[in-house]
Amino acid sequence: MEILVTGGAGFIGSHTCVELLNAGYEVVVVDNLMNSKQEALDRVREITGKEVLFYNIDLLDKDALSKVFLKHEIRAVIHFAGLKAVGESVSLPLKYYHNNITGTLNLCEVMEEFGVHQLVFSSSATVYGLQDCVPFHEELPLQATNPYGRTKLMIEEILRDLYVSNKKWSIALLRYFNPVGAHPSGLIGEDPNGIPNNLVPYITQVAIGKLAKISVLGNDYSTDDGTGVRDYIHVLDLAVGHLKALEKVSFTTGVEAYNLGTGRGYSVLEMIATFEKVTGNSIPYEIVDRRPGDIAVSYADPTKAKNNLNWISQKGLIDMCEDSWRWQMNNPNGFGEVGLIKSGNKTFMK
Ligand code: NAD
Ligand code: WQD
Repeated sequence: MEILVTGGAGFIGSHTCVELLNAGYEVVVVDNLMNSKQEALDRVREITGKEVLFYNIDLLDKDALSKVFLKHEIRAVIHFAGLKAVGESVSLPLKYYHNNITGTLNLCEVMEEFGVHQLVFSSSATVYGLQDCVPFHEELPLQATNPYGRTKLMIEEILRDLYVSNKKWSIALLRYFNPVGAHPSGLIGEDPNGIPNNLVPYITQVAIGKLAKISVLGNDYSTDDGTGVRDYIHVLDLAVGHLKALEKVSFTTGVEAYNLGTGRGYSVLEMIATFEKVTGNSIPYEIVDRRPGDIAVSYADPTKAKNNLNWISQKGLIDMCEDSWRWQMNNPNGFGEVGLIKSGNKTFMK
């Protein structure tokens, strides 16, 4: 019996593949590599010493997906595949709706056809929208503030409707807070295209000298130091959360949402200060205007995952920063081509 991992070559997917293989699962990955590199899966093999089967398939190609289900005895699916850049989703909403929603519809249709009803879905804390009371718990009313967030919200609703239609479905909706960190081996990590949108990869690229300085997006929030507070969660803690959710869906039915966060928030300035400590490098920053759509504070109430999945985050902020930094140092070019990259007067070799 195998576990199908869609988007398994991506940031969270590759770390989850490591945990699955280490726990003895057989893993089949489907990914069209639109935001990842096959090299990530070679590194997963290197870390685990185990085989991971890979199909370069787009979820929009339903026939190709069906063939994977024909060939393998899939027991459950962990569904990471999707586009995730908030800003891009505002300028290209149709691309996001088509890829994330149609891709998920195809997946669910094929699963139904082959009698596979266990699903773990990558949702996001973005479904809580503009809340002003923390911590966020699963019963809060949901809302989306951009097309990316709306795809997550819509997919959550689609999956609830699916269960109403067929009570065999067993679905975990995992709402991640802010995933950061990397595998401690330094072999896999987050590999953003171009200039990073998210805080942590931006900071590590400043720390290594690829980018000149970080813009702190607002210091007039009602937080201790005025900068935004987020619940950063180590990607390996997330990966373990997927294994716990997989166990859960294997002996229950229904649809349940779970927050995967630490339950504690750190400000942008605290993140910069911690990275300065961990890297030993200065991280220049400037305060600029707020980013539209950002909220002051977001952190999880992780009680439900603790009680129902027996999951609790283990890794602290220093682990997150050290592991992100090791990944950045060892792979200044991410999984990119071997060669030289130039940034200002600095040259990096991979
Ligand atoms: P990622 O971009 O690194 O991984 C997603 C993978 O899906 C990529 O390898 C990409 O090539 C693949 N993919 C996308 N569309 C596909 C399609 N149509 N067919 C086949 N493969 C496709 O992103 P990630 O950070 O690992 O995120 C994984 C999931 O978690 C996403 O669904 C994302 O929305 C969700 N999520 C991410 C974050 C975050 O901050 N990283 C937070 C909350 C939720
Ligand atoms: C974190 C903090 C920024 C960049 C996003 C998505 C969310 C989810 C996770 C997928 C905020 C500040 C950031 C910068 C900064 N993804 N910041 N300078 O916005 O909490 O969440 O990623 O589901 O949907 O919206 O994460 O890393 O962008 O920002 O000061 O250059 O860092 O204002 O307070 P965010 P982030």
